[in-house]
Amino acid sequence: MKKGLLKTFCRIFSATGRQYVRKYVILPTKQGYCAVFDAERSAALCRRRKMKVNEVKRENEFCYHVPVMLDESLDGLEIRPEGVYVDVTFGGGGHSRGILNRLGSGGMLFGFDQDADAERNIPADARFVFVRSNFRYLHNFMRYYDKAGAVDGILADLGVSSHHFDDEERGFSFRFNGALDMRMNTRSGRTAADVVNGYGEEALASVFYLYGELKAARKLAALLVRARETKRIETAAELLEMIQPFAGKEKEKKFMAQVFQALRIEVNDEMGALKEMLQHALQVLKPGGRLVVITYHSLEDRLVKNFLKAGNFEGLAEQDFYGNRQTPFRLINHKVIVPSDREVEVNPRSRSAKLRIAELVDKDGR
Ligand SMILES: C[S@@+](CC[C@H](N)C(=O)[O-])C[C@H]1O[C@@H](n2cnc3c(N)ncnc32)[C@H](O)[C@@H]1O
Repeated sequence: MKKGLLKTFCRIFSATGRQYVRKYVILPTKQGYCAVFDAERSAALCRRRKMKVNEVKRENEFCYHVPVMLDESLDGLEIRPEGVYVDVTFGGGGHSRGILNRLGSGGMLFGFDQDADAERNIPADARFVFVRSNFRYLHNFMRYYDKAGAVDGILADLGVSSHHFDDEERGFSFRFNGALDMRMNTRSGRTAADVVNGYGEEALASVFYLYGELKAARKLAALLVRARETKRIETAAELLEMIQPFAGKEKEKKFMAQVFQALRIEVNDEMGALKEMLQHALQVLKPGGRLVVITYHSLEDRLVKNFLKAGNFEGLAEQDFYGNRQTPFRLINHKVIVPSDREVEVNPRSRSAKLRIAELVDKDGR
């Protein structure tokens, strides 16, 4: 878009006063200019104008993604102005812009995302490098950029963005009747329809049990296997119709969300990618470098918690000859950090978020 037009657009939105307390920054991109929502400045403005919860909520509905625990996670990175940082889940770029705001001219930020849609949020900032890839290849890319072992901080804000849930075509939400796709990277891999129609009964039951924590996993899998004999299940509506009888009236939404979450985690191999990325972090961070992770469900939080505590996914720290614990990280927060009540009110999608921060120790354990 042309810069002049964008300026008018931003002025109209700001000029309407209390209703639209939203700070945009106009950024040059490869395709021209774009107006980007600046979460940090908007939040400050909301606080200054003492905006009501409903007003902020309405604002958030228009966003690609509202960054969760922004200040807490940026503080956790302890950003050095000339440091090298990696945001492995770039998404709407809210956290990345926060990092860039705190970096000096000699600093550098790499942003990973496997979803092509995230590319529209790339800031035209010479200190920023976008990597369109799965973060499971973190070490390979950092080696390519000659930064392996030289990174001051890694931020991971796991899962999918609001944009994924709000895009009817992508199939992430049971609110719409899209095709059962759910791939973050639409260039490759199996879709949710492939999982639902192609997995054996045992494998399907494991997906629902492990990733959706559904008690009725076996019954659900058996039902789907029977149903697909007559017709392939292709859309969200077809799936919903079949699983509806399992959901009690009161907890219907929760049940649907668990089924969709389970399929999404399987389709994107979220647990496998997370494990690889955490292991790569050991090779990518420099001693003293920070690892900051935001999780959204208990399975990934347990994995992260164990890894930061012990350096492995079982959470059992090795001991040296003298019985001293040998762990690669020093925990910065022993008690998990969760969003404030106000944040959950204005951004309900943040309600299940958990933040953990740790620092890589050097070879002598310091
Ligand atoms: C919760 S959103 C991050 C939002 C971001 N912090 C912001 O402020 O806008 C997660 C993002 O990470 C991406 N993502 C999730 N898993 C990934 C993976 N294994 N590799 C690369 N990107 C991934 C998703 O496509 C999504 O855009």
